[in-house]
Amino acid sequence: MLDKSAYMDVDAELDRRPPLPRAETIPSAWFTEPRFHDLDSEAIFARTWQGIGHVGRLPEPGSWFVAEVAGDPIVVVRGRDNEIRAFYNVCRHRGGPLATSDGCGRVLQCEYHGWTYQLDGTLRGVPHWNLVELFDREEYGLVPVRVETWEGQIFVNLDPKAAALGEVLAGIRERISPVRPGEMKHYRRVEYEVRSNWKVYVENFLEGYHIPIVHPELMTLYDFRSYRTETAPWYSLQTSDLTSEQNLYEREGGGEAWYYCVFPNFMLNILPGRLQTNLVTPVDHQNCRVVFEYFYDDVESEAARRKIDEDIEFAERIQNEDIGICEHVQRGLGSRGYDRGRFSVKFESGVYHFQDLVRGAYARFLNEGTGRLDAPEPLDPRHDD
Ligand code: FES
Ligand SMILES: [Fe+2]
Repeated sequence: MLDKSAYMDVDAELDRRPPLPRAETIPSAWFTEPRFHDLDSEAIFARTWQGIGHVGRLPEPGSWFVAEVAGDPIVVVRGRDNEIRAFYNVCRHRGGPLATSDGCGRVLQCEYHGWTYQLDGTLRGVPHWNLVELFDREEYGLVPVRVETWEGQIFVNLDPKAAALGEVLAGIRERISPVRPGEMKHYRRVEYEVRSNWKVYVENFLEGYHIPIVHPELMTLYDFRSYRTETAPWYSLQTSDLTSEQNLYEREGGGEAWYYCVFPNFMLNILPGRLQTNLVTPVDHQNCRVVFEYFYDDVESEAARRKIDEDIEFAERIQNEDIGICEHVQRGLGSRGYDRGRFSVKFESGVYHFQDLVRGAYARFLNEGTGRLDAPEPLDPRHDD
């Protein structure tokens, strides 16, 4: 259990919520001190929907894959009834793992002493158990974790009280219609290790302010005058029209780019014919891991494959520019010469909104059981410019 008294200094911060044009950024300690890694894990990652993989990772009944959420091992299983279920990947005997890698089978068998569980989590086989007394097998099933899918993406949530996934993602499907991410085909997964706090990477994603400086090549893709940020309670959206010159993504009649960031760490990058998801997970207070998954309408034809290769190469170049700047920013945030900054009203409302959600998550966690009010409603970062 986390010692909440170690975060007294955070309390004073939680009510400081001026409107965007007057707001300061959250203190740099929140990005640089090890104790905030623990707080993020408890207050944010153990209480939000975590996108942990696409349904293609469970191709048939009996398939499973392993994942980690807020430091907890999780196993996600497709049952014989085709239902997707998730459990803590922890045997009820003495804590062994049911699986240490992805697989497929008729049961889950603990890798320690071999207890077996049905794919729906009920305990089945317990070797050498005949002398044990007062033991009811039914009480020793695997502990379930909430799981929901959205457009082919599997999300789990360790918090039984959290809002439903549909509520969190409300409005996205309507907005991008007729694009259906769930119908695109998975193509590739790429993993990156980044030497920055996970919040640095997420915040960098949340603004287009840095694009002209950090990504001159990306500038050619957008009609930058049309660049906008919108926010919803649990996510923000950046959109831009694509330039009308021939570019990689443009379809007849132009096109639009949508960049969603779902709090806290899941991104959907949607361009005509393609979806790329990013999942950002903390490793420790100054390192994170970023997983890109690429999906396309067409992964078969030769022409499509050529375009895909170009797309992935391009995304990779941009990603390396982002990683470079995030790693510099992490060092800057840790410097004696920096504590807090300010926001561009035109370009950084997504960052402001994210920081307010972080503040809200900390408030809910630290105020729990103290009799103080929960976090107030999220701020409205909209501002006429
Ligand atoms: S810990 Fe699983 S069978 Fe012993
Ligand atoms: Fe960037």
